[in-house]
Amino acid sequence: MKIEIPREVERFGPIVFHGVQKVYELDSGLRNAKNDKDDNPIMKRIAYDTQHEIQKQMAIVVPIRNEKIKLVEGVLSGIPHHCLIIIVSNSPRFPMDRYKLEKDAIEHMEHFMDRDILIVHQKDPKLGEACAAAGYSHILDKNGVVKDGKAEGMILSKILAYICGKKYIGFIDSDNYFPGAVMEYVHEYGAGFTMSNSDYTMVRISWHSKPKVVESNLFFAKRGRASEHTNRILNRLISSFTGYGTETIKTGNAGEHAMTMDLAMKLDYSSGYSIEPYHYINVLEKFGGIIANPSEDVMNQQVEFFQIESRNPHLHEVKGDQHVKDMSKAAMECIYNSPICPEALKENIMEDLITRKILPKGEKLGNNLNYYPALENFDLRKFKDVLKNQEYAGLFKDKLPEFKETKVSKPLRDTKMAKERVLPEKGKLEMK
Ligand code: GDP
Ligand code: CO
Repeated sequence: MKIEIPREVERFGPIVFHGVQKVYELDSGLRNAKNDKDDNPIMKRIAYDTQHEIQKQMAIVVPIRNEKIKLVEGVLSGIPHHCLIIIVSNSPRFPMDRYKLEKDAIEHMEHFMDRDILIVHQKDPKLGEACAAAGYSHILDKNGVVKDGKAEGMILSKILAYICGKKYIGFIDSDNYFPGAVMEYVHEYGAGFTMSNSDYTMVRISWHSKPKVVESNLFFAKRGRASEHTNRILNRLISSFTGYGTETIKTGNAGEHAMTMDLAMKLDYSSGYSIEPYHYINVLEKFGGIIANPSEDVMNQQVEFFQIESRNPHLHEVKGDQHVKDMSKAAMECIYNSPICPEALKENIMEDLITRKILPKGEKLGNNLNYYPALENFDLRKFKDVLKNQEYAGLFKDKLPEFKETKVSKPLRDTKMAKERVLPEKGKLEMK
């Protein structure tokens, strides 16, 4: 892959937000290819062999709920061979067992692909038991099984990727119509990790376009409907602290994203569709130096965000207006309720929600989200032990990677520090 270096960079304490980067070649050849011009200062070449080395250490997670099996098969065919595929399905098991159909179809594909696929059902009681054994009951419901929700499925997959010894984890939605786009995303994840200097790195995909049919013609829209608003508010949040306007964040709602396991283990998560924008918020809360002091290792290494613009159009299942509104509301809720959200920005959020008829005038924006503490504080070996007789246990590693620093801390929002925060006064901020 050949990719331009970031044009803009926004720094926030030890956090680095790189501006969107364009891809110029999807495949740029082997590392030692002849006629290489590797001295181009504005282009980064990520050789095929470098991608391969990263893919061997990467888990690609495909969350599923009630998708067409043909679509899922296409997605799986786009994932490079050396990545470990982890599927977390929350499809209904009654009255018809949709999960069984998915599992049969995927196992059938597995034979032809000649690779291992780890497939679990989100509500498998054994997984609930494993979470409880590790002390991570936060994502369980009153019956002791993992709650519904994409975020909850993703958190589960992070634990699974960790006990499979993976260094990187990437997410790809299962409702993508273009296997070629799926493959491209994985290469872009690899490109981001190669460009990073830090163990704490996240790569987010900004789609080049989203095709739609408008008056019988194909129209390639630039951004999703929810993203535009989430990005604007996230950028305002950053400007309110730096004092400079910015448009750097373009991937507030990116479902397609990847991160190092070191970062995945350190983040708190929020529920449902707010999980993606909350990655930005939580990194700012934990490492931005506004309300908590980042650990020495994070200070030294920095947290790096890469945003890469994909070349393939992004075409997925259309799930209707209400779905977009719910997603947008969840995104705004996680920003609004953050202890770092200034009053002036809260007012902006309310105006935005009322104008878009997501919230009726006069109604308050509550907080219906759940927050889950970072996994680094839990004993995941116990999680692994409970699952030792499962059919997929062969994929687990005997020795789990150590965390750089395992300090037991409560999630930020419960701490005294979060409550005694000092924020800029209302009115002192120039938000518009
Ligand atoms: P959008 O693409 O962001 O509009 O949202 P989708 O509804 O397409 O959801 C994104 C992905 O998450 C899709 O692959 C869904 O099948 C999957 N998904 C949605 N809800 C759940 C859930 O409760 N559990 C799991 N495991 N996956 C889910
Ligand atoms: Co979708």
